Amino acid sequence: AHAAPLREALLEWYEGVHASRGMPWRKPFEHSWDAEQKAQRAYEVWVSEIMLQQTQVATVIPYYNKWMEKFPTIRDLAASNIDAVNSIWKGLGYYSRAARLLSGAQKAVQDFKGRLPDNAEAMEKTIPGIGRYSAGAICSIAYNERVPVLDGNVHRLLSRILALHAPPKAKQTLDVLWAGAAVLVKDADRPGDLNQALIELGSTVCKVRDPSCDTCPLQRACGAYAAASKRLQHLRGNA
Ligand code: ADE
Repeated sequence: AHAAPLREALLEWYEGVHASRGMPWRKPFEHSWDAEQKAQRAYEVWVSEIMLQQTQVATVIPYYNKWMEKFPTIRDLAASNIDAVNSIWKGLGYYSRAARLLSGAQKAVQDFKGRLPDNAEAMEKTIPGIGRYSAGAICSIAYNERVPVLDGNVHRLLSRILALHAPPKAKQTLDVLWAGAAVLVKDADRPGDLNQALIELGSTVCKVRDPSCDTCPLQRACGAYAAASKRLQHLRGNA
């Protein structure tokens, strides 16, 4: 499939239906932000992405707000301690996530004057707990950098679009999907919106067991949908 129509359909869907949905970490990127403002946004998006890794949006929102009241900047977080961090995290589960935020913040303060690195490659390399997905999400959303994301939801969505019936964890599969995600974001004006559209379409429409193909903006571009329709028609014809 060609990237441009997919990109446009994704962004149109995202703007129309899903722009902020009450998620406090979503703020439109502003080209006028200075380095300090961008780094602050990166901190906010980082916290949200780590919370969202294993927890649903609706559950995360109050925790995110509480966290930002207690640790409004990365320096506030770095100056805290594991007990304070865990008490805010209480109820969210997977507590190692909170510890990773704390040690990442301490590293950013010690080595980078309290600013997360200003690009995805450096961020992934230098901040413990930030992998390729998180670096891509943070830098595309906070810095407008054209870097891809591939989480479980985007993996499934792109696998279906490409009708890729391949072992999901094989290196070749992951390489192809990362490359696909990179092609989509490569020419995007708003890479953060594009990536969030992919994440959100994957989690709310192109679901694991129950894809809502009838409301999917990518239906016409979807290889899995086309193959299934054709196959069903064939089988019905033979019945
Ligand atoms: N899940 C992971 N990242 C997200 C984001 N930025 N918006 C909504 N859901 C998400």
